[in-house]
Amino acid sequence: KEVKLWGGRFKETMTPAVEKFSESVSFDKKLYKDDLAGSRAHASMLSKQGLISEHDLEVILQGIDEIERQIEAGNFMWRADREDVHMNIEAALIDLVGESAKKLHTARSRNDQVVTDVRLWCRRSIDQIINNIIELQVTLVNLAANNKGLVVPGYTHLQRAQPLLLQHLLLAYVEQLERDAGRLNDCRARLNYSPLGSCALAGTGLPIDRFATAKALGFIAPLRNSVDAVSDRDFLIELLSANSIIAVHLSRIAEEWVLWASEEFGFLTPNDAVSSGSSIMPQKKNPDPMELVRGKSARVIGDLTTILVLCKGLPQAYNRDLQEDKEPLFDSVETVLASLKVTGEFAKNITFNKERIASSLPAGHLDATTMADYLVYKGVPFRTSHDIVGKAVALAISRKTELSKLSLQELQSICSVVDDDVYSFLGTANAINRFQSYGSTGEAQVASQMQYWSEKLNIH
Ligand code: ARG
Repeated sequence: KEVKLWGGRFKETMTPAVEKFSESVSFDKKLYKDDLAGSRAHASMLSKQGLISEHDLEVILQGIDEIERQIEAGNFMWRADREDVHMNIEAALIDLVGESAKKLHTARSRNDQVVTDVRLWCRRSIDQIINNIIELQVTLVNLAANNKGLVVPGYTHLQRAQPLLLQHLLLAYVEQLERDAGRLNDCRARLNYSPLGSCALAGTGLPIDRFATAKALGFIAPLRNSVDAVSDRDFLIELLSANSIIAVHLSRIAEEWVLWASEEFGFLTPNDAVSSGSSIMPQKKNPDPMELVRGKSARVIGDLTTILVLCKGLPQAYNRDLQEDKEPLFDSVETVLASLKVTGEFAKNITFNKERIASSLPAGHLDATTMADYLVYKGVPFRTSHDIVGKAVALAISRKTELSKLSLQELQSICSVVDDDVYSFLGTANAINRFQSYGSTGEAQVASQMQYWSEKLNIH
């Protein structure tokens, strides 16, 4: 059995069960790229500070390159008895290049090493998530552009409320995704500081240069406090919170599209390429991908919860519990990346059923609020006009008809100021044309929002 790199004081070897329980390399090997980057920066700094020779540096850097090649070719032997990604790489480096490699861990602990790796990994992941967000925004704006002028019922409480341009509804998702990207950017800016050189918890007596390693790794600066640097995972809580909000947004889109794909709504049809069948019911075509997007939001929220609970009872500084941060982190990022991608894929594969939507518009008195606005133009106080239109709606319901189909006499029997011009406010088509406030569903407003997003997202 190989002696551990930390084995100097130990007289017994670890029991197999404890070794298996403690290893993290089976999942933290995902950090290898960041670990190698950290080691390159650290070794270069050590040499510049005269703590290792230029020869040692050269040998170490060559060894690191070779290990990277091995890992990427799938030839690297990951060993559970070497615990984690850091010890695997360091031990392999010693096997490969000998004595020089034993100097790499000068003025470094796995405690600052691991959190450096994780910050680098998060930074790269945030950039990927933001890319996927932008891609989905582009897809949604294109979907909106292809459905110009389509009016759909808008809902509150899932009851018919007022008419909306479909473009307006789709751009609401785009706005939400924009704030999601903003939260990730905020998180990125706050996490982009270097823990490297904080060592175990107290820093070091050796003359290292933390500013040099921070700069080499693209961090803004070194973290000021070595205890804080190795202790906290608040940046993970922040990233997983941002991811949870993304997942919740996607889950709401998913819910809406699943609903719209139902026989009862029938507003959209997904292509076969994004649908699944049933093992027993031959007629079924289910919108599974979006159900899964909705479902996977549960695990993203669970991942955040795991890290919150993981951190809440920990004294300063490093505690081994923190090894448990990796799986929820990786799971959250991978799930959100895939959910963004699949939502885009689904969006590219749906058709809005224009006739079905149009034939459903007369139901639910979507123009009632517009009629109340009409009475405001006639000088009626809004509370009074609300009451009048309520009575008109009741009359329409009792006649099994729509507001626009009530005769002028019928309308005047409820309110004498109603005139012939009321009919230019009634009906969904008229109603939608009346909207004009900033941010409303009026045609001009939505057109300018469409232009805003097309320019911002560089869509031609
Ligand atoms: N695998 C460990 C982790 O993920 C690395 C740090 C271990 N440090 C230690 N002193 N045991 O947290």
